[in-house]
Amino acid sequence: MKEKLNQIREAALNAIDTATDATLEQIKVRYLGKKGELTAVLRGMGSLTPEERPKIGQLANDIRESIEAAIAKKVQEAQAKGLERKLRAEKLDVTVPGTALPAGHIHPLTKVRRDLEDIFIGMGFQVVEGPEVELDYYNFQALNIPENHPARDTQDTFYITDKILLRSQTSPVQVRTMEHRKPPIRIISPGRVYRSDALDSTHSPLFHQLEGLVVDKGITMGDLKGTLETFAKKMFGENTRIRFRPHHFPFTEPSAEVDASCFVCGGKGCRLCKGEGWIEILGAGMVHPFVLSNCGIDPEEYSGFAFGLGIERITMISRGIDDIRLFYENDQRFLNQF
Ligand code: PHE
Repeated sequence: MKEKLNQIREAALNAIDTATDATLEQIKVRYLGKKGELTAVLRGMGSLTPEERPKIGQLANDIRESIEAAIAKKVQEAQAKGLERKLRAEKLDVTVPGTALPAGHIHPLTKVRRDLEDIFIGMGFQVVEGPEVELDYYNFQALNIPENHPARDTQDTFYITDKILLRSQTSPVQVRTMEHRKPPIRIISPGRVYRSDALDSTHSPLFHQLEGLVVDKGITMGDLKGTLETFAKKMFGENTRIRFRPHHFPFTEPSAEVDASCFVCGGKGCRLCKGEGWIEILGAGMVHPFVLSNCGIDPEEYSGFAFGLGIERITMISRGIDDIRLFYENDQRFLNQF
């Protein structure tokens, strides 16, 4: 019987040694199970003498324990190997360089708006904003454009009600600013404006303007000229000159359209300036006394100047863009050039 038990031990340990995950359970059942070989041998214990019984019992227990231990060890080994395999398979090299995502672009209009802001901030201006949905009062009335005034026809306006509209210019921000601030005032106001124009290569029902306003004691046309000349040199180059052409705006008196010397040909005449040597860049003038008094500022004590420019126009001139629609179509082939 002893021999038989030792044979079982040897056979079981050998089998465990070469077992795989799948066969290990079968081996356990085969040797240790209720109908297993070890149990079968122990069933024959009845035929032993009382002296032999405990010895054989002891041996059988030892064998059971060593088989169980061998199985446990094998299971542990298999688990360790599995973990190792898993770790190797899922290895992550955190030092591998990442995949670069293509970076986006600042839209050319945004770029130019920021450049304009930087130039004027550098000259002591503050940036303020106003609403795009505006009262007729601020967009027209307070700017010396009463009802039925012909100037309203030049700015085809989107009306929401009789009194509410989409602002057709950034000039209402002048009024809003003067209403709640005392001079000295030195502000610019960039933003969207709306006119019911058909879309073509130079018109869009939505575009962007930048308004400028300075009000203080003793402000003169000379201050306006100096400011705009400094701006033009910073924007278009040090050699740029400007000229004023008489014009009319209801909210400025006197008024002017302002040209910059062509920065491509320097004034000789070329394709950009259409042979003129000059390019129109903005409208400007001395704030009309009516507008000042509409805002509670005494025109006897204070004077001011204002100007307004189209951001699309400035961008098109400075970047050689010949169609305004390109700004709004978001065609990457266009945008990626800036
Ligand atoms: N608001 C005018 C326009 O849209 C431009 C302007 C602004 C002219 C300020 C003079 C002074 O045409």
